Amino acid sequence: MSDHALDSLVAESQDLLGDITALRHDLHRWPEIGIDNPNTRDRILAEIEPLGLDITQHHTSSGVGALLTGALPGPTVLLRADTDALPMPEDTGLDYASRVDGAMHACGHDTHVAMLVGAARLLAARRGTLRGRVLFMFQPGEEGQGGAKYMLDEGLLDVPNLADGTPSPVAAAFALHTTAVAPVGLVASRRGALMASSDRLVITITGRGGHASEPFRALDPVPIACEIVQALQTMVTRRIDVFDPSVITVARISAGTAHNVIPETAEIEGTIRAVSERTRLKVVDGIRRVAEGIAAAHEATAEVVIDWGYPVTKNSDHMADFAMDVARTVLGADRVRQLPNPVMGAEDFSYVLERLPGAMMFLGGTPPDRNPATAPPNHSNRVHFDDSCMLSGMALHAATALQFLDTRPLEA
Ligand code: NI
Repeated sequence: MSDHALDSLVAESQDLLGDITALRHDLHRWPEIGIDNPNTRDRILAEIEPLGLDITQHHTSSGVGALLTGALPGPTVLLRADTDALPMPEDTGLDYASRVDGAMHACGHDTHVAMLVGAARLLAARRGTLRGRVLFMFQPGEEGQGGAKYMLDEGLLDVPNLADGTPSPVAAAFALHTTAVAPVGLVASRRGALMASSDRLVITITGRGGHASEPFRALDPVPIACEIVQALQTMVTRRIDVFDPSVITVARISAGTAHNVIPETAEIEGTIRAVSERTRLKVVDGIRRVAEGIAAAHEATAEVVIDWGYPVTKNSDHMADFAMDVARTVLGADRVRQLPNPVMGAEDFSYVLERLPGAMMFLGGTPPDRNPATAPPNHSNRVHFDDSCMLSGMALHAATALQFLDTRPLEA
């Protein structure tokens, strides 16, 4: 494909920006949390139904899959937006601020939905010359519920063959995530790990309760818990490769009820982050060894429970290069940055990238009158994403799909 086919996408996105901004503000006013976002789903359906897509409403979540079939045979490329908000108050003072008590689109997922609707309009208008298909994935429950996995388990990727029997496998997947701490329209990504795995850790240390004046007749779990907290930090720095790092944060310790009672148990809770599956497993092994070993040394027991969360969000090298090349072509080379390091937050697009090659990119959304270095970040009650970032986002989604389908040979 010659790049002139992509040139007009920015101008067309500019024409759509008014509609897409109105949609985004509407979504922002009425945020929904978790795996069931019925009003958001209905709003999405109202926007995409006129585009002539094959729409699948999911049953295990309010997810929507929508398939655009081009006039020419080819593979399928997936574009994803998450739809859910966060359980928190909004204090932005914006005229389109949340009207739902205790819910706010503080992670920009309203912009994700609106941008993807914009991209669907841009791509549907090119149906006559489109090779292959575009699968639009509108997914709830990113903020901890694993909504992407619900949609995958319900058969999102089981795309039927084309009318003439040609298989149209889903060949790659792409996503954008808006960030409030980078200038508007700036795109950043990297090869390999983009975001960390995130697992919850709970350790229960069991000793023997007694009178606080006579610890030698009891078995006090409190100092054992403290020793485990310290030893976990030593384990991470001494046993984990500094070039394949990990974070353990003990965020809560609880034990006891009164100043003169030795409790029977103490509990430690925290988060584990890693940027490779190898280190993720190694850290969990280390936590078990350290906690159980220290407890045993004091004749107590430690029970380690790992609540497995999202895996590492891993871009394939080839697709990260490809997506950043498309961004340079469409938005300009000065708008694209290589991230030197992964981000230690987590993302359930990781489940999609476990199944398909692909890439996620961050898209800057700090309003032009704010300093990205000091602007309230994603998940802040004061975060503000500038509407104009969606112009770049729409154009980039559409260009990535077009360029992918045009340069990818059809697989039999
Ligand atoms: Ni998010």
